[in-house]
Amino acid sequence: MTPNQCDIGLIGLAVMGENLVLNMESKGFSVAVFNRTTEVTDKFAAGRGRNKNIQPTRTMEEFVRALKRPRKAMIMVKAGAPVDAVINQLAPLLEKGDVIIDGGNSLFTDTQRRGKELEQSGIHFVGCGVSGGEEGALKGPSLMPGGSRESWEIIAPIFRKIAAQVEGEPCCRYMGPDGAGHYVKMVHNGIEYGDIQLICEAYAILKDIAGMDAPELAGTFAEWNKGELDSYLIEITSQIFRKIDPETGKPLVDVILDKAGQKGTGIWTLQSAIKQSIVISTINAAVEARVISSRKEERVEASKILPQPKVEKFEGDRAHLVDAVRDALYASKIVSYAQGMELLGTASTEYRWNLNLGDIATIWRGGCIIRAKFLNRIVEAYQRDPMLPNLLLDRYFTDIIERTQHNWRIAVSTAVLHGVAVPAFSASLAYFDSYRQARLSSRIKNRPKKRPHRKRQRRITRVNRVARPSRLPRQARGLPYLSESRATRFRRILRARAV
Ligand code: 6PG
Repeated sequence: MTPNQCDIGLIGLAVMGENLVLNMESKGFSVAVFNRTTEVTDKFAAGRGRNKNIQPTRTMEEFVRALKRPRKAMIMVKAGAPVDAVINQLAPLLEKGDVIIDGGNSLFTDTQRRGKELEQSGIHFVGCGVSGGEEGALKGPSLMPGGSRESWEIIAPIFRKIAAQVEGEPCCRYMGPDGAGHYVKMVHNGIEYGDIQLICEAYAILKDIAGMDAPELAGTFAEWNKGELDSYLIEITSQIFRKIDPETGKPLVDVILDKAGQKGTGIWTLQSAIKQSIVISTINAAVEARVISSRKEERVEASKILPQPKVEKFEGDRAHLVDAVRDALYASKIVSYAQGMELLGTASTEYRWNLNLGDIATIWRGGCIIRAKFLNRIVEAYQRDPMLPNLLLDRYFTDIIERTQHNWRIAVSTAVLHGVAVPAFSASLAYFDSYRQARLSSRIKNRPKKRPHRKRQRRITRVNRVARPSRLPRQARGLPYLSESRATRFRRILRARAV
């Protein structure tokens, strides 16, 4: 291939990078590839990349020369310092109007910084969330690109084609400026943590209280996957229960180590939620559950010291408990997504990203780890009301909670009585029980307010009017203009419900 011919280039040939290259090539694009270790490039070119429209390059200069203008260079390396190292090597060789795309799980504030730095030389920087793991990268991931709109126009023909397709719609839409794409991916991962933890808790109740074995569990999850819970994670959970450990001949799930690690995106989601005063208690429970699980040795010692609960064998109706757990899983999942979507909405205001929550739910329907039938319901909710302040307030979700509420409580209370930890189920239910109440127990924390003297009150009001920042119009406080306040939105929902 002659120089300046490749449609796109990719740096970083670990498995995600390799698979993305093969995906791009299979959709008709020519791809230049580069890896810091040349042997990796050579091995790929001679192996999976053989006889394909893929050009291996051995230096960064050769890589840049291989690209068509405006050059599009995608980086698939470990988040953090390696991304900066690649950009520092690559950017001086690029020209105004070229585009660098970071497809790793980078922290959105790093993406904002990198975008600003590159802006000075006129190079576009796209922070793109890529979800779907190795398989998604190869067959079609969910892509969440953020950066300038101009850069989106440049990469859109390639990205829309390599993304997963659902009902003829690519799972890739422009998210917003600077760090928006990586922020959306970060919250996706937080929600993914929540989904996984909720599944773990459903499993714990069914196994430890209902006494189900692996084949029964596989059947139950497969059954659930035919209904409202239909999703990638439920599907693979049912498959996991069928896996047998070749060494012991036992179900793999019974011998696997109960220690979960984490790469950081869940914790970043929590940090951002705290900063913005948004409750994401389900995700929080999921992150903390991973932390406790990782302290295996300490738990083993503690189990020898701490009193265990005196529990009686479960004598209730097993089929009823299974239904209760399914309902608890669905209701808790709704709460988790309600919290995650609220976080996205608040971040959008804070960073002026103008995120479209309906678009986000649309591109999560396929390709990504949290893909689920249920996301169609979220898309519909935002079609009904793009300014919906909380998913729970959408009529469809309120009805589900109405239907599942009793069983949700049965599942949580049964777990508590039997000493089975269900932090994400309980946190979700506690969130619902707090959010649905007009008056909360927090009143005890408040000292009764003395009414100030009338003259003093007038002065306070005057001072407030002038000095309290919240008294200033949103634009004057540097916040984007919102066509509708939160209170107005609630009044409107109530009016609509009254009809
Ligand atoms: C994806 C995944 C993927 C990975 C995360 C979370 O969307 O394809 O989210 O990015 O699962 O990095 O990893 P940990 O669970 O190890 O933190």
